[in-house]
Amino acid sequence: MGAAAGLSPRWNGTCSGTGRQISSQLGERSSGSLGSERRGDAVTAHRGRPVSFRTVTEPARSTSGPTPVVVLVSGSGTNLQALIDAAGNAAYGVRIAAVGADRNGITALHRAGAAGIPTFVCRVQDYATRADWDAALAEWIGDHDPALVVSAGFMKLLGPQVLSRWTVINTHPALLPAFPGAHAVRDALAAGVSETGCSVHVVDAGIDTGPVLAQTAVPVAPGDTEESLHERIKTVERVLLVEYVGRAAREGLVVEESGVHLGAR
Ligand code: GRF
Repeated sequence: MGAAAGLSPRWNGTCSGTGRQISSQLGERSSGSLGSERRGDAVTAHRGRPVSFRTVTEPARSTSGPTPVVVLVSGSGTNLQALIDAAGNAAYGVRIAAVGADRNGITALHRAGAAGIPTFVCRVQDYATRADWDAALAEWIGDHDPALVVSAGFMKLLGPQVLSRWTVINTHPALLPAFPGAHAVRDALAAGVSETGCSVHVVDAGIDTGPVLAQTAVPVAPGDTEESLHERIKTVERVLLVEYVGRAAREGLVVEESGVHLGAR
């Protein structure tokens, strides 16, 4: 039986926000147009080869505790805070084992410290090569033995040492595959779209190209600036991230070539 098996029906969420949530369905990520809705619960069929997440959560499952998660951050950490708050409820099924950053002095690290969560900083500029940094980051993460890694506003591309060992869930402030990259909100505004949003997806080697687990649409308002739109996106982004990290921890996650879905357990 899974660590948090049976807990999910009691988790009703503690965050609030507005937006139109779009759940992913297996293999739909690259086929749907932006305007099309992708509704419905995540697919639960167990097809194909389950990869890292199910494998690495086995130890957590046998100890009957919450799923250990390492969260990676680079900035203000409001998504991290939402996860910290959710994890305060045992029914959520997540233990934030550590918070890692690519820079010092950020508010996200203070949030982790205030919550008594171990932190580490692993800066690219402290290593001779990007590959060395990737290996060091994998070591830092591995010290906390997570079953899942969450990138919550982490502004670095992860390398193969990390991605081969853990499934990483990322949150992105756009409706992927539209507007990948570091300036997603600015790019959406520049493109003049009437609707953008946020995506929770599994990280692969590309820039925000991994399979999408869930999305929430957010309308662009007249007069929106990059800041005002991003803040409105972040309100729903936190809700979506909390929901899907919790569900991944409680239900398991299967990542396949054709997409990602909940329900490995
Ligand atoms: C989020 O919108 C995330 O998607 C983006 O950066 C923002 C981080 O916000 N990559 P916060 O640090 O969690 O407040």
